[in-house]
Amino acid sequence: MRKLIKILALGGALATVFLVVMGVRGRSMAHSVYETPGRLIETLPEGSDPVEGERLASIYGCHECHGDDLSGRVFIDAPPFLVVTANLTDGVGGIASEYRGPADWDRAIRYRIRPDGRGLLPMMPSENYHRMSDQDLGHLIAYLMSAPLADRELPRTEVRLMGLPIAGFGVLHPPRDQGDAPSGPTPPVGPTPEYGAYLSNLTCVECHGDDLRGGPTPGGGPKAPGLAVSGRWRFEDFVRAMREGRAPGRDMDPAMPSAYFSRMTDVELQALHAHLATLEMESPQ
Ligand code: HEC
Ligand code: HEC
Repeated sequence: MRKLIKILALGGALATVFLVVMGVRGRSMAHSVYETPGRLIETLPEGSDPVEGERLASIYGCHECHGDDLSGRVFIDAPPFLVVTANLTDGVGGIASEYRGPADWDRAIRYRIRPDGRGLLPMMPSENYHRMSDQDLGHLIAYLMSAPLADRELPRTEVRLMGLPIAGFGVLHPPRDQGDAPSGPTPPVGPTPEYGAYLSNLTCVECHGDDLRGGPTPGGGPKAPGLAVSGRWRFEDFVRAMREGRAPGRDMDPAMPSAYFSRMTDVELQALHAHLATLEMESPQ
């Protein structure tokens, strides 16, 4: 019995030391300034269109997390972290005035680094956006730089005391293996599986998992299922699911953001369907 207590006490002491060390490391990482690991666009590509950017902000998920008017919200309020999706406009409480030009927006969106060099938490899915083409990014930034002002004052994201040891594991560090963006191929727009894979990597993977075999839905809701099955649905059924939130024979949970995907073009849906059809069906266990 004594021996057991000693072992437990030693274990407890070691765990405390570990937590303190990770906490100290986390505090320093929260204040670190990071180099951008790749290329940034300094000017908007020719043809960058804020109207197209506004549509892309819907289908790429920006509106879902930052709000339709980009005014932001408290995203997670938990003991380790207060996570706030910033008000991205130049209205009262907005952060847009801290962004001096396209390079600063690029750094935040594709590399997860703020203009002051500090890291953003990975709930901002820059790992996905790192694959975004310069042209699509240009549309988005043109929209962000001209978005109507929205007034909303919000607290800043905060790593709380309990979150410091978690931060010590490096969550605020920009993704390590990401060099120049875009990191993937950007195939021409068309009803091809290649273009479908590009779109899917920017947005569907966020919930359905990197290989689209299914995954947990960030922010809660039912599990997002694997998508190989829906790649075999008739195209009309797939379109109804994407645009109206109705899978064959049932209404889907609103955690599947069909209201935003209803803004996808026919070609985008054809490309996605073609891509899903290339996924291997999982064998029953
Ligand atoms: C799944 C939710 C989610 C999606 C989708 C998302 N964001 Fe974010 N975003 C966040 C969170 C959370 C933060 C705050 C992270 C932090 O403060 O550490 C953030 C931060 C940002 C910032 C930095 C703001 C600042 O404080 O300087 C910018 C810019 C941004 N997002 C733009 C975008 C754009 C553009 C899109 C769409 C292409 C997008 N986000 C999509 C969750 C999201
Ligand atoms: C924010 C999370 C989220 C994103 C992003 C998302 N989905 Fe979903 N999706 C879900 C959830 C959750 C369900 C399950 C809903 C239900 O069954 O009621 C679902 C269900 C589906 C279904 C029905 C599958 C079946 O077998 O019943 C299809 C098809 C689908 N999603 C396609 C897509 C495609 C294509 C994309 C990218 C363009 C995408 N989803 C992006 C969360 C998401």
